[in-house]
Amino acid sequence: MNFELTEEQIAVRDAAREFANTELLPGVIERDTEAKFPAEQIKKMGELGFMGMMVDPKYNGGGMDSISYVLAMEEISKIDASVSVCMSVNNSLVCWGLEQFGSEEQKEKYLKKLATGEKIGAFCLSEPEAGSDATSQRTTAEDKGDYYLLNGTKNWITNGSSASVYIVIAQTDAAKKHKGINALIVERDMEGFVVGKKEDKMGIRGSDTHSLMFTDVKVPKANRIGEDGFGFTFAMTTLNGGRIGIASQALGIATGAYELALKYSKERKAFNKHLSEHQAIQFKLADMATKIDAARLLIWQAAFLKDQKKNFVKAAAMAKLFASSIAQEVTTEAVQIHGGYGYVKEYHVERLMRDAKITQIYEGTSEIQRMVISREILR
Ligand code: CAA
Repeated sequence: MNFELTEEQIAVRDAAREFANTELLPGVIERDTEAKFPAEQIKKMGELGFMGMMVDPKYNGGGMDSISYVLAMEEISKIDASVSVCMSVNNSLVCWGLEQFGSEEQKEKYLKKLATGEKIGAFCLSEPEAGSDATSQRTTAEDKGDYYLLNGTKNWITNGSSASVYIVIAQTDAAKKHKGINALIVERDMEGFVVGKKEDKMGIRGSDTHSLMFTDVKVPKANRIGEDGFGFTFAMTTLNGGRIGIASQALGIATGAYELALKYSKERKAFNKHLSEHQAIQFKLADMATKIDAARLLIWQAAFLKDQKKNFVKAAAMAKLFASSIAQEVTTEAVQIHGGYGYVKEYHVERLMRDAKITQIYEGTSEIQRMVISREILR
């Protein structure tokens, strides 16, 4: 067993760290306060190759492995999780899904621009009445011969207004239940497609989360991903990989908060000694560091299995379940170590604590991860 990173993986991690510190840190508090989408920053990340990291270079991607991707996700998330969720959805859900299951024509037309960040993608599964229960899709894609007529509403869609390519999951034949669902590529300017209200969120406030409305949108058959009825399997398979990305986001949020708390504990004095000299604080730091390392190992295991083309469903769900849980604990402790300073924006940890919560909700709640894990164990 070898836990050493390759030179290339270290270079990717360091480049992401450098970018996060120089380009994302300045302005992160303002973007959070004003709920401002980091458009400029995302554009630069596209130019640097962070938006299509695992895509084959023949489709303009970075051709990197999943380990490099999770390293970059951790570094970006340490500083700005609003940026990393956009990165994660584009890389893991949209680019990966299209590369694995899209037609050659779809890859030429959409993937090449998504991989460079010239276009941003969105993954549209959740609905007002179908969140965790993803088979209960109410959005319909009626088969009209050479096109589908798309009608319905999607909720809580990341990159909702900044995207121009949307993968929409919809029901074509309700009698077939999940085997009657399709995944369609919808373009922003298709007639009948309206971007709805922006959500005013507790955390990841810089990311743009919207509802989307489709009214008689004509989607060409050529925009269906895979065979008729493949949409649900497409969504589930793609989400398996997405969960590794969100686990890395949770890890990055935890690591960011831990590193700030560690630094603060060495600077701040109480009762004539540094906080770090008090055993109460030392024990907190020890627990935080242990949880972070355990989460990282689960994530690396899942990414490794994915790269080896082995079954990583359970490993990805475990990584997300655990990393999102410790992100709550570690960020809360980081605020506690900072005392009153931790409760104000300037010290960053309150934002990280707010950002951490969503990692237990999107791309499958913690309860969904437990369902996935237990099904894999009991199978
Ligand atoms: N990987 C591959 N296939 C899977 C799968 C997985 N993890 N989980 C289920 N499937 C397949 C099953 O094998 C089955 O296929 P077959 O009939 O061909 O065998 C099919 O899907 C239906 O499975 P179930 O009968 O188990 O379906 P279910 O309704 O009981 O439960 C579920 C499935 C696991 C709960 C699923 O609905 C689920 O994962 N829900 C959560 C959805 C989710 O993660 N939403 C997040 C939205 S996206 C997002 O958040 C992105 C963003 O913007 C940040």
